[in-house]
Amino acid sequence: MPDKATNIHPTFHHLLQRSDKEAILQQNAICIWMTGLSGSGKSTIAQGLEKKLHEQGILTKILDGDNVRTGINKNLGFSEADRTENIRRIAEVNKLFLDAGIVTINSFVSPTKDIRDLAKSIIGEQDFYEVYINASFEECAKRDVKGLYKKAIAGEIKNFTGLDAPFEAPSDAALEIKTAEQNIEESIETIYAFFISKIKNLNS
Ligand code: ADX
Repeated sequence: MPDKATNIHPTFHHLLQRSDKEAILQQNAICIWMTGLSGSGKSTIAQGLEKKLHEQGILTKILDGDNVRTGINKNLGFSEADRTENIRRIAEVNKLFLDAGIVTINSFVSPTKDIRDLAKSIIGEQDFYEVYINASFEECAKRDVKGLYKKAIAGEIKNFTGLDAPFEAPSDAALEIKTAEQNIEESIETIYAFFISKIKNLNS
């Protein structure tokens, strides 16, 4: 998207630094980015992870596709262009939270490598941790928590990820969780164990 703003005078250099905020919070701000099919378990894991981190005194913010699409991204649909814009805006929102020292927990289908690479390039490679929440299309369709698979298979939803819109599984995720092979508590413990030391070890 071309830049439209002209005659602006950002004052980033006058602001307190992220490290000042992280020092108050006693945590490293990182971006935990979950990708996976609708119904794979991203949102449930995000909520469980947030609760466990909260119990350790860690300040977090969950950013979730279904929620941000009711607000900041309510004008976007599921075309490739709209999904890209969805993720671009959310990546910028991530940066704002990270600058405030806050750990972000993202659950977005973010179906293609290009889209995830866009998020990574905006957020910054050093802060960006991709987590693949892996459940097959068949497994997600069997769960069908929101009833969307039934509708999509009946042709009532177009551009449905995994059906008539692509999902490219990540090949280089920092962590992969197979939600058909362990229960939700185990999945939450796995992701918590992976990230707690990265968040709590200041200056690591
Ligand atoms: S993304 O592809 O742009 O990253 P996002 O995570 O924001 O998607 O939103 C996905 C959620 O929107 C799904 O969990 C599901 O509830 C809902 N949804 C509605 N239509 C679609 C569709 N065509 N494809 C995928 N998810 C959809």
